[in-house]
Amino acid sequence: MPEPANHPTSDLLKWPSTALLRWYDVHARDLPWRILPKAAKAGVTPDPYRIWLSEIMLQQTNVTTVRPYYEKFLTLFPNVQALAAAPDTQVMAAWAGLGYYSRARNLLKCARTLVADYDGVFPNTEAALLSLPGIGPYTAAAIAAIAFNRPAAPVDGNIERVLSRLYKLQTPMPALKAHVKQANAKLVPKDRPGDFAQAMMDLGATLCTPKRPNCLLCPWREPCLARQAGIEETLPIRAPKKPKPARQGVVFWLENAKGHVLMARRPDKGLLGGMLVFPSKGWDAPNESRLPELLPADAQDQWTPLRGEVVHVFTHFKLTLSIRAQTAPKGFRAPQGFQWVAPQDFAREALPSVMTKIWKAVLLKSVDRKETGK
Ligand code: ADE
Repeated sequence: MPEPANHPTSDLLKWPSTALLRWYDVHARDLPWRILPKAAKAGVTPDPYRIWLSEIMLQQTNVTTVRPYYEKFLTLFPNVQALAAAPDTQVMAAWAGLGYYSRARNLLKCARTLVADYDGVFPNTEAALLSLPGIGPYTAAAIAAIAFNRPAAPVDGNIERVLSRLYKLQTPMPALKAHVKQANAKLVPKDRPGDFAQAMMDLGATLCTPKRPNCLLCPWREPCLARQAGIEETLPIRAPKKPKPARQGVVFWLENAKGHVLMARRPDKGLLGGMLVFPSKGWDAPNESRLPELLPADAQDQWTPLRGEVVHVFTHFKLTLSIRAQTAPKGFRAPQGFQWVAPQDFAREALPSVMTKIWKAVLLKSVDRKETGK
């Protein structure tokens, strides 16, 4: 990888870290997983379990969304032993709504590995952390720096933006990341690597924002090469977005006389792994529901299409679902692999967001039907 032309020069390396840490001492956000500089100076040390949990939750989710989930998780599972001992369904339910469910499955796997093989104690090096389930290079570096004060240099979206501007790195993403990592590794201060990483995250979240960065208040306004060139808002350069492929499917809403709805649990691996879903087909080839064929012959074409569609955007595709509903024929029992679930239990079972959208769509349509008397 060729070095960027405007690679940090030694004079630029010396003082930005100090200036940033000074700013962080005053402006650090008070986040539930964070030991603020004042407390750290008074000798409070981070709990690696809490740091790990926060970093896993923050992997693809913003701070505002994570907060209530994080607090609920800590109440339910206050330490790694409690989490490792929890039933899978309870952990999946506590995660429901946060998305990217493989994170929750790996979280549990990791907790159980730590209890079984590490006496419930987190390893304190980047390399050892990296060997644990669900911990990739970013998370290993973040935990090593924040929980163990190791001179590690995590790069998340905020840090990528902040450093691409500080050093005016004009390589488009995703190749930019390697240049940012290189620059970051040289900047990390030996004494406060965890605070340094968190300071860059805060800078990116509060001042060095994607649009209209607030350079006047920025501790890096002077050394920032992008600002000097007046191009801060144009960095980082994104590769043109590819449109997401579209998929279409049909969901089957089968209700019995008690108003319970037929659902199935997804296999543990893959999209929505381990979650309870309404049967569907047409969009996810390995998990096509056989429900329509499992109904008695005279019920197989009794589906009523509901008006409108549900749209949900996953990371790699956009899904549009139409809904067909019917009341189950008398005496029809849940076939193997299916279960009846009462809508009042949906909250406890914790539906993934796309399924909640379907439920809401059905609710709206049934109000519609009642109001119009159809
Ligand atoms: N995003 C990822 N990790 C974070 C952290 N520790 N603090 C704030 N935002 C983050």
